Amino acid sequence: MHNNQPIGLFDSGIGGTSIWKAIHQLMPNEATLFLADSLNAPYGIKSKDEIIALSCKNTEYLLNLNCKIIVVACNTATTNAIKELRSKYEVPFIGIEPAIKPAALHSQTQKIGILATKGTINSTLFHNSLQQYQNVTFVEQIGHGLVELIENGQINSPEMFDLLNSYLQPMIASDIDYLVLGCSHYPYLIPQIKKILPPHITIIDSGEAVARQTQKVLQETCGLHDLTTPAEQIFYTNSQSEVLQSFVGPNYSVFPKKF
Ligand code: SIN
Repeated sequence: MHNNQPIGLFDSGIGGTSIWKAIHQLMPNEATLFLADSLNAPYGIKSKDEIIALSCKNTEYLLNLNCKIIVVACNTATTNAIKELRSKYEVPFIGIEPAIKPAALHSQTQKIGILATKGTINSTLFHNSLQQYQNVTFVEQIGHGLVELIENGQINSPEMFDLLNSYLQPMIASDIDYLVLGCSHYPYLIPQIKKILPPHITIIDSGEAVARQTQKVLQETCGLHDLTTPAEQIFYTNSQSEVLQSFVGPNYSVFPKKF
């Protein structure tokens, strides 16, 4: 069974394009529609109710555009709203959670750093997932200010380096050997993070695992796009389209929209 409806993705901004890239790499024949809610970024400092309301608004926008599945390409929206989304709408939802399991399985020091937003770190879903690993010490750090700098295109700024350095040094001192990136914006900081971390610390993000899960759910439920019809990749933003365009590259169309 083929299904040529698009995969819908949303994020609080441009960070979720890291998830889109992993999905597009694994399934280049799938049509995708990405919603960057940059006007409301960051979600990580908002209340649970606000995050649920924004997640519902984004979902309804994507469903009105005929999306067959919704990828919540935002850790904060996943940890705070996925339960409500699944109970309210009938399409399948894919969420992203920090990739704790592979880090916990491979860590030698049994100490793992987690960098995520306040909304993710304070969520019940996140806390419940840590409970499964009683032998591991988690060094949690809220990435205050990182999403704002990324959304403003200041990835390589001195402010970014100073913030990252202040968040990562205590983790290094705690002897972590894995750093889990718990926000879909943060993979864009990997080159900067690598300048600070010693080389024995492995950085993990969720992109590939989310892409594989999306493919599996499509195969089991609503179906994959056929291999012959061209599949469009469309990006909508309700803020500065130049920033989103610079993240997805010149080959894709970014449209400013009100949503
Ligand atoms: C945010 O909007 O604060 C970050 C999004 C995320 O958690 O992935």
